[in-house]
Amino acid sequence: MTAEENQKILFEIAKDLTAEKKGYFKLKHAIEELKLLVERISELNKDALPNSENIALPNGQAIGPKWAGMCLEDLMRTYAFINGIHKAIKKVKGKNSKKPVTVLYVGTGPYATLILPLLSHYKPSELQLVLIEVNPISIESLKRVFKGLDAYGYIKAIYQCDASNFSIPSEIDADILLIECMQRALIKEPQVAITYNLLPQMKKETILIPENIYLHLSLIDYKKKIEYQSAIKNLQPIAFYENLEVIFMLNKAEVLKNNSEFKKEGFQFPEKEIHFSEKQLHNYDQITVSTEITIFQNISLKIDESGLTVPFILADLSQGQNITGAKTRYILGANPGLATQLVRS
Ligand SMILES: C[S@@+](CC[C@H](N)C(=O)[O-])C[C@H]1O[C@@H](n2cnc3c(N)ncnc32)[C@H](O)[C@@H]1O
Repeated sequence: MTAEENQKILFEIAKDLTAEKKGYFKLKHAIEELKLLVERISELNKDALPNSENIALPNGQAIGPKWAGMCLEDLMRTYAFINGIHKAIKKVKGKNSKKPVTVLYVGTGPYATLILPLLSHYKPSELQLVLIEVNPISIESLKRVFKGLDAYGYIKAIYQCDASNFSIPSEIDADILLIECMQRALIKEPQVAITYNLLPQMKKETILIPENIYLHLSLIDYKKKIEYQSAIKNLQPIAFYENLEVIFMLNKAEVLKNNSEFKKEGFQFPEKEIHFSEKQLHNYDQITVSTEITIFQNISLKIDESGLTVPFILADLSQGQNITGAKTRYILGANPGLATQLVRS
């Protein structure tokens, strides 16, 4: 197919993904079409062994091109990110329509999934991209995708590097920093280290996407959760979980506040200790970490809406284990995530 034909397909996909009125099936169809399009033009052979291999970096795992590409299929994630970014671009553009909006996209994977459909909404004179990805196979695939869409005009620069220690060249003046190198509960992948490295290097009005990531310790009533999941739409939602304190957050204010301490050797995030009441211990049967993500403004991913917000189970309360609380601390390094210790009576 020609680049023009590919652009037409992308245009239809983008229309459905960013439509005001959308239904689940329309959305699902658009994501399926997007998958077919990028798989075809990238020519990425998902079954080739190196494409399933993760790269172990000092600040976390970079998942292999096959897995990074599959993130596209997480419907609500892909949908929410694309619409959040669209909204952020419109906001920046609204302030200065003469200059193109520059998005620094970190962890593009093989298809730059989260920005690609938006190319249909903007001309290169309105939108410029700086693309960062550590995996060389993903970089090559990415280039084929942009070539197949005749979209090189959107690319200001591509860097194959570890974004957690990358120095942004002075000529790059980005308005939006988009990072999607994460899993639920911010485990394994280097989202935190990358954000702390890049955001403080950028101008103060930079929009960070996701705008806010909260990790809460939360308690789940498993029986109610099953009822909730099988409930017919119009039924009242059943509160099957209770969020306790925030145990970690990643947002612009937090990063800029901690930045100078973060750079010091031996830096550690503070430990949080949370105790459960008798009533809570009685009412719930699982202790979990829940992830809540604000992509931008009112666009967010709530509990269980995406693979990124599936609760991470820490312990089962139903076995009479005398658990009364938990201590947690977010740990950096090659295997980032929450270190947790249960408190028992
Ligand atoms: C979870 S995938 C997301 C792919 C794509 N952005 C999407 O949303 O569909 C994360 C991507 O980030 C890349 N990555 C992880 N750590 C990185 C780092 N430190 N520097 C640059 N890229 C990184 C991985 O190789 C992988 O392609």
